[in-house]
Amino acid sequence: MMSAIPIILDGDPGHDDAIAWMLARASRQLEILACTSVSGNQSIEKTSFNARRVMTLLGIDAPFAMGRERPLHGEPIHAGNIHGETGLDGPALPEPTVPVQPCSAVELMAKTLSAADKPVTIVATGPLTNVGALLILYPELKPKIARISIMGGGLAHGNWTPAAEFNILVDPEAADVVFKSGLPLSMAGLDVTLKALVFPEDFERIRALGNPVATVVAEWLDFFYSFHRSIGYAGAPVHDAVAVAALVKPEILTAKDYYVQIETQGDFCRGATVADHYGFSQKPPNVRALMDIDRVGFIDLLAEAAAWYGKEPA
Ligand code: RIB
Ligand code: CA
Repeated sequence: MMSAIPIILDGDPGHDDAIAWMLARASRQLEILACTSVSGNQSIEKTSFNARRVMTLLGIDAPFAMGRERPLHGEPIHAGNIHGETGLDGPALPEPTVPVQPCSAVELMAKTLSAADKPVTIVATGPLTNVGALLILYPELKPKIARISIMGGGLAHGNWTPAAEFNILVDPEAADVVFKSGLPLSMAGLDVTLKALVFPEDFERIRALGNPVATVVAEWLDFFYSFHRSIGYAGAPVHDAVAVAALVKPEILTAKDYYVQIETQGDFCRGATVADHYGFSQKPPNVRALMDIDRVGFIDLLAEAAAWYGKEPA
């Protein structure tokens, strides 16, 4: 049995972040060393409260620390129109029992990396503010980062502007640091996440599992589906869970390596992930971009993870 992959979960819960964390917690291939919040879907206060409630619901036994309230440059951008006023509207969640560490998210990441007995994978499902700051402040810890698996970007188009996907747009300067880091980088961009769609028959299958976590996951998916249907999507794109699926079930994904640059300027294209499809830059690839997914295999993965909570000893 291969030893578990040690990971840090960094996100802005957020319905799809919460489902990604649900999948990570239930995956025996992963060991969650720490969780950190970032401003994105909602304010840092709200994403931090949501992160702690999700950790409590899932029984994630790991330290938690809050990220910064704003990106490295510019003003915060939030997505209350998608995730609601709380940032995680829908089912009632337990009051958090997870304390907030008396250090910043970046400091917790650094402590975790320093203490780890082998390199750690960072799973970033929100803006890359914390990860970018970590690389700026602690460059000596890069050898302790095995890989960064992000949800973010899109090689063909954006979802918050025509050119930019939300996570990258919120903090392009941080994303630029990450994409230039030279570290192994897996990008679950819109190219793949818009194919990771969940439909009612999928979340009803999860609801039918009947354990408390599966019931909440089904309600998160139901909320997310209803919103996305209202803006013309065929189903709910569970963006962030793909960044975890890349670690636990890579066989359901196809990928292509690209040299990708982050546009940090521009009136129309700030936050774009610009892939060099034809080698103009003559630079080696810096990103493994996920491009396609076996959607049924993805749903099976989510359902198996949700079912795990009904078998786990209380
Ligand atoms: O563009 C989708 C991304 O933005 C997801 O991570 C979602 O949670 C939001 O943060
Ligand atoms: Ca997110």
